[in-house]
Amino acid sequence: MYRTKTCGELRINNVGESVTLAGWVQRVRKMGGMTFVDLRDRYGITQLVFNEETNADLCAQANKLGREYVVQVVGTVGERYSKNDKMPTGDIEITVTALTVLNASDVPPFTIEENTDGGDELRMKYRYLDLRREVVRRNLELRHKFCLAVRHFLDEKGFLEIETPVLVGSTPEGARDFIVPSRMNPGQFYALPQSPQTLKQLLMVAGMDRYFQIVKCFRDEDLRADRQPEFTQIDCEMSFVEQDDIINTFEEMAKYLFKEVRGYDLGDAPFLRLPWHEAMRRFGSDKPDMRFGMEFIEVMDVLKGTGEFGVFNEAAYIGAIVAEGCAAYTRKQLDELTNFVKSPQIGAKGLVYARVDEQGNVKSSVDKFYAPEVMQRLKEFTGAKPGDLILMISGPDAMKARKQLCELRLEMGSRLGLRDKNKFALLWVVDFPMFEWSEEEGRLMAMHHPFTSPKPCDIPKLDTDPASVLADAYDMVCNGVEVGGGSIRIHDAELQAKIFKTLGFTPERAKEQFGFLMNAFKYGAPPHGGLAYGLDRWVSLFAGLDSIRDCIAFPKNNSGRDVMLDAPSFVDQKQLDELMLDIVKE
Ligand code: AMO
Repeated sequence: MYRTKTCGELRINNVGESVTLAGWVQRVRKMGGMTFVDLRDRYGITQLVFNEETNADLCAQANKLGREYVVQVVGTVGERYSKNDKMPTGDIEITVTALTVLNASDVPPFTIEENTDGGDELRMKYRYLDLRREVVRRNLELRHKFCLAVRHFLDEKGFLEIETPVLVGSTPEGARDFIVPSRMNPGQFYALPQSPQTLKQLLMVAGMDRYFQIVKCFRDEDLRADRQPEFTQIDCEMSFVEQDDIINTFEEMAKYLFKEVRGYDLGDAPFLRLPWHEAMRRFGSDKPDMRFGMEFIEVMDVLKGTGEFGVFNEAAYIGAIVAEGCAAYTRKQLDELTNFVKSPQIGAKGLVYARVDEQGNVKSSVDKFYAPEVMQRLKEFTGAKPGDLILMISGPDAMKARKQLCELRLEMGSRLGLRDKNKFALLWVVDFPMFEWSEEEGRLMAMHHPFTSPKPCDIPKLDTDPASVLADAYDMVCNGVEVGGGSIRIHDAELQAKIFKTLGFTPERAKEQFGFLMNAFKYGAPPHGGLAYGLDRWVSLFAGLDSIRDCIAFPKNNSGRDVMLDAPSFVDQKQLDELMLDIVKE
């Protein structure tokens, strides 16, 4: 038997027991005639002791152990002379009587401890070593617990877990597909699913009624802290439901997961439901961080045309936020904020500020263009108090300016410590527009996806004013992160055809791409709808992580590479030949 106990379970009441442990050498310390070894496994760390006086040979063997050697020891549990109350096993140690080296180890490229000296890339390259660190391992344990809770909840509600294929056909909407060549069908390609959207709809046509799947999705898009090219969804679909049925089910699920997995009570009150247009107006975002206020105040009426400041006079939007207690910001702090909004990622032309001093006087960066009364009006209009700082962004494109002000609001929220990772603010964003204009494509695109139902009262507007049509679509947002999204689907072949037409598909192309779905709708498709949660995002919120990478066992880096496997990589000419593919060099 390799072990009788793990490295995390021995306590003071085990003193006197004879045990066998196996694990990795975290550290060896020699102190006089004694050698101490920290032995680690998934469950914890236990201190081993070797005494030169009582067993010189064994102690000499212990002194030769290197970091990350895999060893087995037999010994007796004893009470520690100097206890360590930071470790669960800190009251005991093992006086070793036999030591077997099961495997030696090269010196690891970084220290495998809580505070490691390894940089990001190095740890990604040796991810299997990084995963030995407790901080990283804990995230995977949380992920496991999360998945169990998901399955438990959905099973209780009658959902069936059904697998859908990974080699599917390419769909042109949304992000780019990852495509896979088919050897047996030369010149033809599968695509990896961006989500099982159409398949879960077909399962509804098939009468499965309630489906879910914890499923990998693949999207070839630019990566960010909360985006990976392959990620996991908790994908769900229900038949005979309206928007409220879905929102209620998944709100209950969110409360359950928070309580069971995170130990956090979201309370009984229903989540706020914020219409998309209102979210954009008040926060400049369809995923507002509601842990703090600092809502936008549109100040066009106060500042446009009331002074000589050309930028404001030409603006389509002037928005302000009030940063409480920040009137004393130094020149340097204001310059930092200005540089922040002017950075290429945000792209604002500049930042205008106004300080309200303790006497209530307003001093602004555009003072020379405005009479003092205008500035007083600004103070009153925004509700700024003595000691507050008003920050303003404007622009010729209202939507762009709002998005820039949103970034500034988030930055100020972070600077003022208002984005506590242990606090959670959840809401639904509802009533999304059905379409958005794509500059790149020069046409309307589906904002959620083309299978989303327009609000029934807006259907007549599809012919006259499609841009104003709202959809039965909803996102769940937590702390400024979109943790899930879904919609009521179209279940009528005619309406679906009309949406494809509005999206610029010819009937032939719609048939070619989505004929399978439209055909299925001819055979009794029930009214249905659903939602998909982003599993990685949920787990990283629960763990307080900055990036979803840290809760994925083997993630990709920011260029979409797996640096451990060195993928993607070139393939042999033989493989290319079999697939009848040619690489064209530029
Ligand atoms: P959507 O595209 O909104 O909807 O995706 C659902 C949820 O998946 C998560 N997510 C991601 N997580 C990590 N990396 C990514 N690249 C990534 N992209 C999305 C988000 C998001 O809310 N089929 C529809 C769902 C439906 O209508 O039922 C869909 O995929 O948390």
